[in-house]
Amino acid sequence: MSTAAALFVAVVVVLASPLLASSQQQTPAMMTSPPPPPSPAATNNSRLESAYVALQALKRAITDDPKNLTHSWCGPDVCNYFGVYCAAAPDDACARTVAGVDLNHGDLAGTLPEEIGLLADLAVFHLNSNRFSGSLPNSLGNLHRLHEIDVSNNHLSGSFPSQLLCLPDLKYVDLRFNNLCGEVPEAIFEKKIDALFINNNNFDFKLPASFTNSTASVIVLANLPRLGGCLPSSIGDMAGTLNELILLNSGISSCIPPEIGKLDKLKVLDLSFNSLAGELPGEIGHMTALEQLNVAYNGLAGEIPESICELPHLKNFTYSHNFFCGEPHRCLEVPRVDDSQNCIAGRPDQRSAEECIGFLHRPPVRCDAHGCIAPPSPPPPVHYAPPPPLRIGSGMQVD
Ligand SMILES: *[C@@H]1O[C@H](CO)[C@@H](O)[C@H](O)[C@H]1NC(C)=O
Ligand SMILES: *[C@@H]1O[C@H](CO)[C@@H](O)[C@H](O)[C@H]1NC(C)=O
Ligand SMILES: *[C@@H]1O[C@H](CO)[C@@H](O)[C@H](O)[C@H]1NC(C)=O
Ligand SMILES: *[C@@H]1O[C@H](CO)[C@@H](O)[C@H](O)[C@H]1NC(C)=O
Repeated sequence: MSTAAALFVAVVVVLASPLLASSQQQTPAMMTSPPPPPSPAATNNSRLESAYVALQALKRAITDDPKNLTHSWCGPDVCNYFGVYCAAAPDDACARTVAGVDLNHGDLAGTLPEEIGLLADLAVFHLNSNRFSGSLPNSLGNLHRLHEIDVSNNHLSGSFPSQLLCLPDLKYVDLRFNNLCGEVPEAIFEKKIDALFINNNNFDFKLPASFTNSTASVIVLANLPRLGGCLPSSIGDMAGTLNELILLNSGISSCIPPEIGKLDKLKVLDLSFNSLAGELPGEIGHMTALEQLNVAYNGLAGEIPESICELPHLKNFTYSHNFFCGEPHRCLEVPRVDDSQNCIAGRPDQRSAEECIGFLHRPPVRCDAHGCIAPPSPPPPVHYAPPPPLRIGSGMQVD
């Protein structure tokens, strides 16, 4: 991105931040003053004329506006519309243009018309927490300067907006909490984006091995239970950029490849509510930036490697609802730890002996099943002591 374009985006991001947006809401004193005169730029500027057509079409497509947000959306001076932010065009410092639309938390109902594609200089498009329905317009593919799109927490349906794939500057894609369905194109993982949130939709796709090509710092694919797939050993390829990986309830059935230990910038890793099998690789102990680790509700077994619990920044380690049979004492010193519902002798709130013994009689884990490539898991431990039955008030500390 050129310096001018970066500045354009920076200005718009600041303008569109929720804090500033709310401070721009009219105070009673402002409401009594006369409306500002139209800016001269609005009178002969084809960019603002197109924006006028786009925003009026959007206003017409809004069927309910309980907070009266679009009340000010009248006349050609679109830069004074509530939630609309103008800046000098990146390619013409003399021309003002609409660079941001921020209607977050607007509770607006309606649809998104194709005319939105007329906002040709739009860099920031924030519509989160509204009630927009229907599909995302194809014309989003015309927004060649789009940097951030956040349409999360709406009622949008239809397929993944593939029209976003050709936008060269797109960095932030937030589609979570909608009713989008169908395939997620693998190409989204090849795009140079910073953050991808697609959780809580009805997408139907298997995590492709190529997801590890992504250079995003945040990837959230949670609650896509039909996702399916593996954690590939190429996961270590994301070491340079990945800060946060949330694959909660994503239907993954594989072992955890030791290459995950290469992710030394990763702070948050959530693999809970999947069908992970085998043991926790000790290599996780190389993930020196890790602060939050959640592997709860899987089929993991064996001992918790001490190296994980020695990680210097680990604050919250959740491994409940697995079949772990041992944990070093060091693990209980992690500030937040949840080891409940495992098979750990001497610990409170574990699985019944029947469940733990039943688990041992399952066929051995094949990490390469389901088409996944991962190293074979070590054989189950030979000696196994079921946890003793807990007596109520047996000297357990209550805090
Ligand atoms: C509007 O701008 C166009 C192109 O920049 C120019 O040719 C035209 O004369 C201008 N019209 C007025 C009324 O200023
Ligand atoms: C919206 O604002 C206008 C003008 O302030 C007012 O007349 C109208 O009643 C408002 N509507 C709602 C639903 O608050
Ligand atoms: C993406 O990942 C796949 C599988 O890991 C690999 O074969 C392919 O070459 C990668 N593509 C790019 C563009 O790096
Ligand atoms: C610790 O992690 C668990 C699982 O991700 C989460 O539910 C819990 O809120 C976290 N606790 C703190 C204090 O961050």
